[in-house]
Amino acid sequence: MSLLSLFINAGLSAVGAVICYRLILDYIPIFIARKMYGNDQCKVSNAPVPEPMGVICAAVYLIVMFVFIPFPFIEWIGMDTFPYAKLLAILSGLISISTAILLGFADDMLDLRWRHKLLFPTLSSLPLLMVYYVSGNSTTVIVPTIVRHLVQPFVVLPITINISFIYYIFMGMVIVFCTNAINILAGINGLESGQSLVISASVSLFNLVQVYRFGADENAAGFWHHIISLYFLLPFTACTAVLFYFNKYPSRVFVGDTFCYWSGMTLAVVSILGHFSKTLMLFFIPQTINFLYSIPQLFHLVPCPRHRLPKYDAESDTVSMSVAEFKKSQLKTLGSIFITICRSIRILYVEEFEKDGEIYVRMNNLTIINLVLKFFGPMHESSLNGLLMLIQMLCSCLAFFIRFYLASLFYDVVE
Ligand code: UD1
Ligand code: MG
Repeated sequence: MSLLSLFINAGLSAVGAVICYRLILDYIPIFIARKMYGNDQCKVSNAPVPEPMGVICAAVYLIVMFVFIPFPFIEWIGMDTFPYAKLLAILSGLISISTAILLGFADDMLDLRWRHKLLFPTLSSLPLLMVYYVSGNSTTVIVPTIVRHLVQPFVVLPITINISFIYYIFMGMVIVFCTNAINILAGINGLESGQSLVISASVSLFNLVQVYRFGADENAAGFWHHIISLYFLLPFTACTAVLFYFNKYPSRVFVGDTFCYWSGMTLAVVSILGHFSKTLMLFFIPQTINFLYSIPQLFHLVPCPRHRLPKYDAESDTVSMSVAEFKKSQLKTLGSIFITICRSIRILYVEEFEKDGEIYVRMNNLTIINLVLKFFGPMHESSLNGLLMLIQMLCSCLAFFIRFYLASLFYDVVE
């Protein structure tokens, strides 16, 4: 039955994709008429581009999910053994996803403050985590074999340890991280939708492999966890593919924060319901590196301009790394330490210059987009997005390698 539902889900996803396509075409002029657009900062024309088009795809996605909900449960309707926990899991996932869409739309309309962007997803993860708790889901982690061997002379560790509430804190952090991670790796045509598409396709493939490994045992808990994850992912991948089609260079629509938060939250939700939140982080390697590299600007250890996207050069029609300029006296101690370390390992462009008798610092904005441009030099916007997509795909390959090969070397038991 689960597999049949999966086919129905795939069919509804295809219908959702067609509806997204039609609706985006219909809504482009409406967005422009309502002055809902952003200016493409890497084009000569600086033309208005409808934004946030993610809200249209997110609405279609929710409708597809609502229509789909009865299908996996048809055979149980009216029976005493109705699997309420499974229905609850799907509903709680949808609550978190809906709130992320609301947060994103509010951000697009109101330019929210950072503390709200962090607090809101934290709180909206509570229904999901509560359902996880009451469904008696596992909070055990497998101890790596090497760690057990290293500490063996002092203490004998079990193969698995129940880390209890720490696991919930970790899952909460996964939600907050994912919700924001895609939005801070953004600013060139096709990047937000493209990276989400690569990650969701990779995670779908991971789930399919796991379903295959569980064989036809529909009653195995692991089987259901990966199936439910696919229920959420297939419609998401379908809607995102259409959005990418319109968002890729030259963008006809911008996805907006609505899409970024929806995408991050959907991926976080599927990893929690699918019990693979640690594995999900492997698919987020570029986003994690981008976040770590961004920390000094995000936490204002060094000044952060409103936009960190690359700088456009109209003459050569290329983009190059964008820079932040500020007085050296504005630098905080931690910021100076960061600059010194990054400069010595050559992952930062820094220059000092004098203006009006003051020493100024000029350094590249701290995103991996600018880092790629530092290493490869200026290039066309679509080539840059292609290169970033390639990196994302290679990271997915690395994730599969770590999850299916390296993990078996480091762990005695791998699910
Ligand atoms: C985040 C980034 C910011 C980046 C911006 C670009 C952080 C902390 N914030 O801010 O550095 O500049 O995303 O999305 O990292 N745009 C383009 N071309 C594109 C996509 C977007 O020019 O392909 C511009 C448009 O003017 C669009 C605007 O970026 O209107 C959207 O920015 P917004 O999503 O509001 O920025 P933030 O998410 O706050
Ligand atoms: Mg944004």
